[in-house]
Amino acid sequence: MEQTFLMVKPDGVQRNLTGEIVNRFERKGFKLAGAKLMQITDDLAKTHYGEHQDKPFFGELVEFITSGPVLAMVWEGDNVIATARDMMGKTNPLEAAPGTIRGDYGVTVGKNIIHGSDSHESAEKEIKLFFNDNEIVSYEKQD
Ligand code: CMP
Repeated sequence: MEQTFLMVKPDGVQRNLTGEIVNRFERKGFKLAGAKLMQITDDLAKTHYGEHQDKPFFGELVEFITSGPVLAMVWEGDNVIATARDMMGKTNPLEAAPGTIRGDYGVTVGKNIIHGSDSHESAEKEIKLFFNDNEIVSYEKQD
């Protein structure tokens, strides 16, 4: 079964949006397979966002993602990687459609509430980076 890595960023946690976000993915029909509230270290942030290390906003990005707790999650379901990206909306909340998470709750591209893996390859990499095998739970869920 396909899995993706989703993370409510520090702004989403601070603004009490974690429940709303979990609710959206549960209501859609996806299955929560792992979750932890955690403080990202500088090293983890730099590894996770390694592909952006040459971008002018890299320092700001690392500073923001380490500024407070995040809710790291693994979600499971058919086509969950692409569908979760659709549900999140475009990276810049000002361009994200109403009805999407960023479209409904965000204003700035830096503080855009949620991160989600953009491909099968990054989902696998990000899940391994944030979760140990024994933190991912396998169980039957009623549809
Ligand atoms: P995310 O999906 O977590 O992946 C990379 C992040 O970089 C992205 O969400 C944005 O939050 C952030 N980002 C992209 N462009 C900018 C920018 N111009 N300024 C600050 N942050 C940015």
